[in-house]
Amino acid sequence: MTERLTGTSAAGGLLERYRDRLPITDETPMLSLGEGGTPLVRSRRLIERVGCKDLYFKLEMCNPTASFKDRGMVVAVARAAEARVRAVLCASTGNTSASAAAYAAHSGLEAFVLVPHGRVARGKLAQAVAHGARVLALRGNFDDALAIARNVSEKHPVSLVNSVNPYRIEGQKTAAFEIVDELGDAPDLLFIPVGNAGNITAYWRGFVEYYQAERAGQKPRLMGWQAAGAAPIVRGEPVDDPQTVATAIRIGNPASWEFAVTARDESGGQIDAVTDDEILAAYHLLAEEEGIFCEPASAACVAGLFKTAAESPESLRDRTIVCVITGHGLKDPETALAIETEATEVDADLSAVESAMGLA
Ligand code: F0G
Repeated sequence: MTERLTGTSAAGGLLERYRDRLPITDETPMLSLGEGGTPLVRSRRLIERVGCKDLYFKLEMCNPTASFKDRGMVVAVARAAEARVRAVLCASTGNTSASAAAYAAHSGLEAFVLVPHGRVARGKLAQAVAHGARVLALRGNFDDALAIARNVSEKHPVSLVNSVNPYRIEGQKTAAFEIVDELGDAPDLLFIPVGNAGNITAYWRGFVEYYQAERAGQKPRLMGWQAAGAAPIVRGEPVDDPQTVATAIRIGNPASWEFAVTARDESGGQIDAVTDDEILAAYHLLAEEEGIFCEPASAACVAGLFKTAAESPESLRDRTIVCVITGHGLKDPETALAIETEATEVDADLSAVESAMGLA
């Protein structure tokens, strides 16, 4: 056990790479499942609809559990293991639970995850179950789950690994470092989905830190996007019964609300909302015209980019833009199959296949 907790799991993980910029100690186990170092892919087709100088997608869905959560989770779980807690706990719309379960399994800790009953995309549940987490399906929403998780962690020796855990934000800021390192500077604009508001907080911290260290000559304007049925920050008040097809960001009272507003204002950016129809349109276009299959929540920021292009195209001209693609489309197969045309059934026969392909 001790050896497992102090050993190096793999070379080149986030903890190794950003050792100097992360809150880790000589005692912190250098866990890694290969998180970070995700691709920054240049748009080939959607850029024509946007009319900017350069458009990139930061593919955070390429992390080990297929979402950006792994960057923060590796730090939070490593510190929990160092503190010799028995278990980690989180409330989650799905991705945090998948990531917590994986890193807990990797480090030999127990994981408890509290998810809103019936509202978690099946791929994410499959991950938590596969990694051996204790999954509690709460008869309530994410906000209820987070409130209870906080209470439990105050009363019992389990480590809360939601983004209210400062180690999560610290780990997630490394995505901003990578973007600057790859582009040679910060982009002009960063488009990002907003749910519990930890990630927009983390990016801002990363960009500010690199700017102060003179690793970047500028900071980007942060453009955050909530779903219209779950847009408390846009409305300026909590939403009691948030609703959206983008279940990952179905959150009515974000924990990092104030930090997100600070990030928005300090960066001269905005936090706005897109409808489910706009989210699904962007989700399709990303898959069909860029080859990027993300989950609906991730497409919210691209929907926001299209909305901005329609409403104020001049604000995008000559700009370098990065969209954060937070999670993989395979996590939510129901949404993909519900709205895609069904597969065409065909006999196992050459001419039947040719005619189905329109080649007969
Ligand atoms: N995109 C995806 C795919 C997410 O899973 C989340 C949040 C967000 C965007 C929003 O990020 O909360 O930092 O503003 N998912 C959390 C979870 C809430 O439990 O997995 P945020």
